[in-house]
Amino acid sequence: MAKKTINDFAQMVEKGEKIVYLTAYDYLTAKMEEKAGVDMILVGDSLGMVSLGYDTTFPVTMDDMIRHCSAVRRGAPNTFIVGDMPYMSYQTSNEQAIANAGRFIKEAGADCIKLEGGGPMIAERIKAIQQAGILVMGHIGLTPQLMGQIGGYRAQGRSSAAAMKIVNEAKAVEAAGAFSILVEGIPTAVGKAITERAGIPILGIGAGSYTHGQLLIYADMVGMYDNFTPKFVKKYANVGEVLINAFKEYTEEVRQGQFPIDDEHTYKMSDAEVKEFLAALNK
Ligand code: KIV
Repeated sequence: MAKKTINDFAQMVEKGEKIVYLTAYDYLTAKMEEKAGVDMILVGDSLGMVSLGYDTTFPVTMDDMIRHCSAVRRGAPNTFIVGDMPYMSYQTSNEQAIANAGRFIKEAGADCIKLEGGGPMIAERIKAIQQAGILVMGHIGLTPQLMGQIGGYRAQGRSSAAAMKIVNEAKAVEAAGAFSILVEGIPTAVGKAITERAGIPILGIGAGSYTHGQLLIYADMVGMYDNFTPKFVKKYANVGEVLINAFKEYTEEVRQGQFPIDDEHTYKMSDAEVKEFLAALNK
């Protein structure tokens, strides 16, 4: 299937077709997601927790993101890929933001970048990156890089005033030139209000069913990441358990000398070659 473009996403919204969005951080997972037919892959800075073992996304660097994003591109050559700008890769200046967004496109083959926040400074960054010719996806609501200011990893916009603030941020991010917005961890009513008022695709993670598309972190939805599971995650498989059982069985068989002993998993030599070989060894 051909890689989708912003025109395809606009048409999907027009026709009421949902956009399917999943994270990936490596070649193999990206390959499987492309085979499954997802529309869009996010190489999120959740990489920090899911693949690199940090407690937060803060330590993730641009070099980490570029390495993983290019692996994802190799695994999913025909899928629209979003590169997530890590902490402090865009906050300092428009120049810094454009240079790092450009690295995602030039070095990692991403189609678009995503950055967090909805205030005036972020609107300025979105405008600058967009004017440099790079597609930008906004990210508002529960924004992990602003965890300190929003009071931890918790749903946002649960009072009328807080909900209005997020609705206004969505308007500002769209006006700044974002081609789409990801809304995270907000009540369904707020996700619906933003979606109904937007002129661009609204994607949701923990934002209810009314958004134009849905995102999940793949390691959560297949039961691989068990350090913390947000309320909005539905588990579609228990891959973690499948892997642990396979590792246990292998451990047991190696310790018992049961692997590898069968013909299926060992290489053979003809009897004549074995005979010659043993003779050569004994010379
Ligand atoms: O890094 C990421 O995967 C994200 C999602 C949590 C939305 O930004």
